[in-house]
Amino acid sequence: MTKRLIFLGPPGAGKGTQAERLARALGLPAVSTGAVLREAVAAGSPLGQQVKAVMEAGQLVSDDMMVAVLMGWLESHQARDGFILDGFPRTLAQAEALEAHALQVDVVVELVLSDAVIVERLSGRWVHKPSGRTYHERFHPPKTPGLDDETGEPLTQRPDDQPETIRQRLQVYHQQTAPLVAHYQALAKRDAQLAYLSVDADRSIEVVQAEMLDALQALGVG
Ligand code: AP5
Repeated sequence: MTKRLIFLGPPGAGKGTQAERLARALGLPAVSTGAVLREAVAAGSPLGQQVKAVMEAGQLVSDDMMVAVLMGWLESHQARDGFILDGFPRTLAQAEALEAHALQVDVVVELVLSDAVIVERLSGRWVHKPSGRTYHERFHPPKTPGLDDETGEPLTQRPDDQPETIRQRLQVYHQQTAPLVAHYQALAKRDAQLAYLSVDADRSIEVVQAEMLDALQALGVG
């Protein structure tokens, strides 16, 4: 059986936090398409140069580019039959691209969170850039303020976590990504191979994680 899981949810819902923990628990490779793009920007690669301004404006990178990024990642990690995607698909065209490449999804995990909580989550987020480890100044603080727990290196804030850009990202989410909720819910009703889990993300990281793992275990994944 394949194990192809995707996370759906607005910016700041905890997709990255939960995907990282789930990957460890299930032993599956996980990718954050946002993190792949941020690495390309930091490296100044041709891809990075093309996407930098789009990301800083809180807009989506084009579907063609993102499908190429994801396919490249799946190939280099030999991950066609088992993966966790954090941040892909983000449009109906991207969801259709998965199906067109015979990468049918087995489980959709939707993290549900209101816009008001999202702004608080993102404006308090601090990131260890080299590893992608994520902290929150109130909800998941590092042991020493401003420093990564494992390396002691400084933490930074993402350029797209400014209040104005957060609002823009939320708008883009509601317009372009939220339709995937209905898309996958309808697909799950027709196709017994697809499970749709909707998780209330407005609880602690540990509670969200435990509920998700229990639900996946009940489905035979994990
Ligand atoms: P991406 O990096 O994917 O950003 P995003 O979807 O906006 O999601 P975030 O990473 O902001 O949030 P998250 O849900 O992962 O939350 P996190 O776990 O960090 O994409 C960035 C950009 O790249 C996009 O805007 C776009 O331009 C481009 N892009 C990427 N993929 C694309 C695609 N497929 N197509 C087109 N463009 C694409 O948690 C947030 C904070 O809350 C953290 O501080 C965390 O510690 C804290 N936290 C997490 N869970 C909890 C909890 N339960 N309680 C309290 N605090 C919590």
